[in-house]
Amino acid sequence: MSILELKDVCYAYDSRAKVLDGLNYKFEKGKVYAIVGRSGAGKTTLLSLLSGLTSPTSGVILFDGKDVKTIDRYKYRSRHVGVVFQQFNLLPHLNAVENVELSMRASGKKIPDKRKIATELLEKVDLDDQLSKRRILKLSGGEQQRVAIARALSYDPDIILADEPTGNLDLNTQEEVIDIFNRLAHEENKCVILVSHSSEVAASVDEVYELASLRKSKRRKEAITGGQFI
Ligand SMILES: Nc1ncnc2c1ncn2[C@@H]1O[C@H](COP(=O)(O)OP(=O)(O)OP(=O)(O)O)[C@@H](O)[C@H]1O
Ligand SMILES: [Mg+2]
Repeated sequence: MSILELKDVCYAYDSRAKVLDGLNYKFEKGKVYAIVGRSGAGKTTLLSLLSGLTSPTSGVILFDGKDVKTIDRYKYRSRHVGVVFQQFNLLPHLNAVENVELSMRASGKKIPDKRKIATELLEKVDLDDQLSKRRILKLSGGEQQRVAIARALSYDPDIILADEPTGNLDLNTQEEVIDIFNRLAHEENKCVILVSHSSEVAASVDEVYELASLRKSKRRKEAITGGQFI
């Protein structure tokens, strides 16, 4: 069963024209998805809906078969979905370990030995002990991006959402970050959904959804069963 499913999802800000119109997408665990589309197509809006920050104007979003509207929104957001924002949103005066630990505490999930797990998560995104103890302010953009990914993983969510996670990175660092997302999906069975303008990113994921035309890209081979792409 899909971990996330959109059924006829529409969204409009205020009474303006629809930004998203009749989306029917399915997302499974163990795969990396890229959402692509021109600027203003509604990619960030779609991530807000998937993260439970906003509700669709019409249609439903199912998480594990249940309408997100009917489940505890706070729990959904703080335990089941990890979000990586483009601006990282890290606390600059804390170090990497402290940022990850803080997110664990905020989730309210019982996590024993937070420091040890935080350090392991940072190792997983290739940040060594020395960098993990350095203030965020003194890390490079790529290093901060890794901290943001480790933080999104801190409470072990099933779904990782990331808005332009490689937007500010050089090609090599971009590839390393994409490798991390691929490992999370393929080795740890996470459902990873990335918004990206980058053709390199789109070429290295399992599925691509092209939002502008509400059509699934033909670039990838697999059709998602039951999905309707108009
Ligand atoms: N808070 C808001 N209130 C009203 N309109 C908004 C709001 N946020 C976004 N929009 C509009 O909704 C549309 C979709 O915006 P969104 O940020 O989802 O696009 P995007 O695909 O992420 O674009 P980009 O690639 O530039 O980040 C745009 O036309 C934008 O102007
Ligand atoms: Mg955006």
